[in-house]
Amino acid sequence: QPLRYPVICIDGPSGAGKGTVTWRLAQALDYQLLDSGALYRIVGLKAFEAGLVTADTSQVIDEMAVLKLTQSLEIAFVPNNASGRVDILVNDEAVGEQVRNETVGGYASQIAIFPKVREALLKLQQDMATRSGLVADGRDMGTIVFPNADVKVFLTASAEARAERRVAQLLNAGQTADFDAILTTIKARDDRDENRSTAPSKPAEDALLLDSSILDADTVYEQVKKHCQTKGIFF
Ligand code: DC
Repeated sequence: QPLRYPVICIDGPSGAGKGTVTWRLAQALDYQLLDSGALYRIVGLKAFEAGLVTADTSQVIDEMAVLKLTQSLEIAFVPNNASGRVDILVNDEAVGEQVRNETVGGYASQIAIFPKVREALLKLQQDMATRSGLVADGRDMGTIVFPNADVKVFLTASAEARAERRVAQLLNAGQTADFDAILTTIKARDDRDENRSTAPSKPAEDALLLDSSILDADTVYEQVKKHCQTKGIFF
């Protein structure tokens, strides 16, 4: 019987604050962090570079070609002691911020509908829980990847609240932002992630539901922390 480490799953749509709460939990507990969205973003970006996916969502994508590409990628999570973060290496090269924009998020969402592509990324994700405690951020962490997780949270927020936050972020960074365009993009991505037939974004039956449209980041963190404690994870 292999040693089993605690797993905390934080699922939900992008922009609900999963990244923040996941990071804080991993820090407080000294657990590893799995940013599963980054995996889909990496495949999405590589698929774009290979001409397999474009911003035109009506275009038919060759699932087998994306699968082959996914299998050709050597993806590794490497703890970076200097930053305290986990670096993601693809074919020995660190993945930088280039996967973190909405365009790549869209490519990720398009290739994430394919069961074979998801299957190819499954073991890599599950292996993360064999080395230490884990906080996993995604869409299907609590339903598919870690169905036996100790703690499951589904963090949502209205599309409008998420669009407003995104606008504020962009303006803060000195960029321009179009609320309506951002809202449309968010809704299109939610729709695709929630309505695909394989591993749709949805709460696990035993997940705690939190709505961050009406809660600030500190309150979300405190409620998740309290929930962890009811599940036997004390910090
Ligand atoms: O969480 P994110 O915005 O980085 O995710 C980008 C896309 O990747 C998301 O729109 C759908 C897909 N994804 C997924 O299908 N399953 C996950 N566990 C994480 C992300």
